[in-house]
Amino acid sequence: MCGIVAYVGHREAYPLIIKGLKRLEYRGYDSAGVALLIGGELTIYKKKGKVADLEASLIDAHPTSTIGMGHTRWATHGEPNDRNAHPHYSHSGRLAIIHNGIIENYEAIKQKLQSKGYEFRSDTDSEVFVNFIEDIQKATASSLEEAVRLAMQEVVGAYAIVLMSAEPEDSGLLIAARKGSPLVIGVGEDEYFFASDATPIIEYTKEVIYLDDHQIAVVRAGELTVTNIDNVPQSPYIQTVELELEAIEKGGFEHFMLKEIFEQPRSVKDCMRGRVSADEGYLVLGGLRDYLDSIAKSKRIVIVACGTSWHAGLVAEYIFEELARIPVEVEYASEFRYRNPIIKEGDVVIAISQSGETMDTLAALELAKSKGAIILGVCNVVGSSIPRLTHAGAYTHAGPEIGVASTKAFTAQVTVLTLMAIAVARKKGILHEDTFRRLLFELERIPDKIEKVLKSAEKIKEMAWQFHEARNFLYLGRGSNFPVALEGALKLKEISYIHAEGYPAAEMKHGPIALIDQDMPVVFIATRDNSYEKIVSNIQEVKARKGKVIAVVTEGDKLIPTLADHVLEVPITHEILTPLLSVVPLQLLSYYIAVMRGCNVDQPRNLAKSVTVE
Ligand code: G6P
Repeated sequence: MCGIVAYVGHREAYPLIIKGLKRLEYRGYDSAGVALLIGGELTIYKKKGKVADLEASLIDAHPTSTIGMGHTRWATHGEPNDRNAHPHYSHSGRLAIIHNGIIENYEAIKQKLQSKGYEFRSDTDSEVFVNFIEDIQKATASSLEEAVRLAMQEVVGAYAIVLMSAEPEDSGLLIAARKGSPLVIGVGEDEYFFASDATPIIEYTKEVIYLDDHQIAVVRAGELTVTNIDNVPQSPYIQTVELELEAIEKGGFEHFMLKEIFEQPRSVKDCMRGRVSADEGYLVLGGLRDYLDSIAKSKRIVIVACGTSWHAGLVAEYIFEELARIPVEVEYASEFRYRNPIIKEGDVVIAISQSGETMDTLAALELAKSKGAIILGVCNVVGSSIPRLTHAGAYTHAGPEIGVASTKAFTAQVTVLTLMAIAVARKKGILHEDTFRRLLFELERIPDKIEKVLKSAEKIKEMAWQFHEARNFLYLGRGSNFPVALEGALKLKEISYIHAEGYPAAEMKHGPIALIDQDMPVVFIATRDNSYEKIVSNIQEVKARKGKVIAVVTEGDKLIPTLADHVLEVPITHEILTPLLSVVPLQLLSYYIAVMRGCNVDQPRNLAKSVTVE
């Protein structure tokens, strides 16, 4: 949800900001803009479209400055156009803002400002914010820092903001503040960077500070100070990010999504590294050690998440209930937080989130914490908001995921949640040693088995050609392959814009079967498990109505290939681990179909990777 980047130091700010914005484009990409201080004036360039469009429009401009800020937008207030693109000037033109988030009471503030003669050039809440700050500064004759602080006490909503000023006394000044939206500060040699995540920064410095809610960071005359909303000085913790540049570049792949699909053997291995050894019968999740006992004793686990992470939660429900015998409820975070949920002291609430920043998931967790639940996180981005809020958790260690459609994060989440379920079942003393050893043995083989599935990429590509003009798709699965059906359908619709739905296979008879004819491709996830016979019957029912069947089957299946139009094989594994393999061909199928339809796979329309608004 909007990417922000700012710089002050000794380098040329413009190319650095453009490069940074490209790294943050996964957060939003409907318009982009840059503000630079040139000759004592704030100069803003902004444009509807991608960062590359902005860059192309400035090819002859060569803007020069060592202080500036940039923004890539995902529209909330006001349609994506040049006017609504950030940065925004204040009324006087002496201040400029970039903003990620939503100001909920902007309408009331705007009316007050309008009654004082303020005029607005855009439809955004962000322009209201900067004018509010300007108005406070005028009225109180305070410093810009103080005006920001006072404004923060009045505005309701979520934000990460950066401000620049054209006043001579503010030369070299950058002010940033956060509440609810992420903001990272890079600390270099006589230079500072602000950004929505560390990716625009790591090329220059690995030393970063994650700003907390209600904190204000000010760089003035080359000095950084951090205070809170009550003007109490803070001692920010400088940490070293372990992120290498190649992890955030495409590395020869046409798209980040394809790179990330192909990274899965490594990312699944990375998330088990140091945690599992089948030979030694060893399983340790260091981050959960102190809470394992409480989880094992809990009467109920609630999982809250959104999007693909919610699907990982649904897979985990099967695994936890099967192994740990604890009832699990999986909730959309957005629904959970607004329906006065019943949470009892000692309930365990697990948030799953790749970014660790999803607003609804974060809010659901805050609510659960306030009601006395033990709150845990399964997140990918180290240092993000959710892991900082939780009592304990386990990182997925999948590495940066940049493609908007989530792939390697899903398999890493399912892997970590499986490890958690096994650990809890062991703690409860209900997992037989043989089953424990077998599960670890099979888990250690998953990376090689994913590698094997990836070898069928060419075959999947050929198959994709036959379906790339389809208008609808149905995905069906049973048991823990039902969430895989949901995930397959989500992948396809989000990147190819083909309408797709996922259902439990048995539910087909209660509605979706009415859609089936010769033009309806139906993807069955039909691996060998205890509902195999039942899903074979469902395949026959689709064939009897002339539907086109694509089936994901277990290697060596003899029956389904005689029924289905196309089969995609995955290696055999322990039944509860099957989703880690069966999802992979579906990711590839969506990818190739989207590419064949000419879609922008990494930046699908209207979507953003990190949803920091409700
Ligand atoms: C967005 C992304 C999805 C992601 C969902 C939840 O919709 O496009 O890929 O699954 O948010 O994000 P999270 O970071 O909480 O997993």
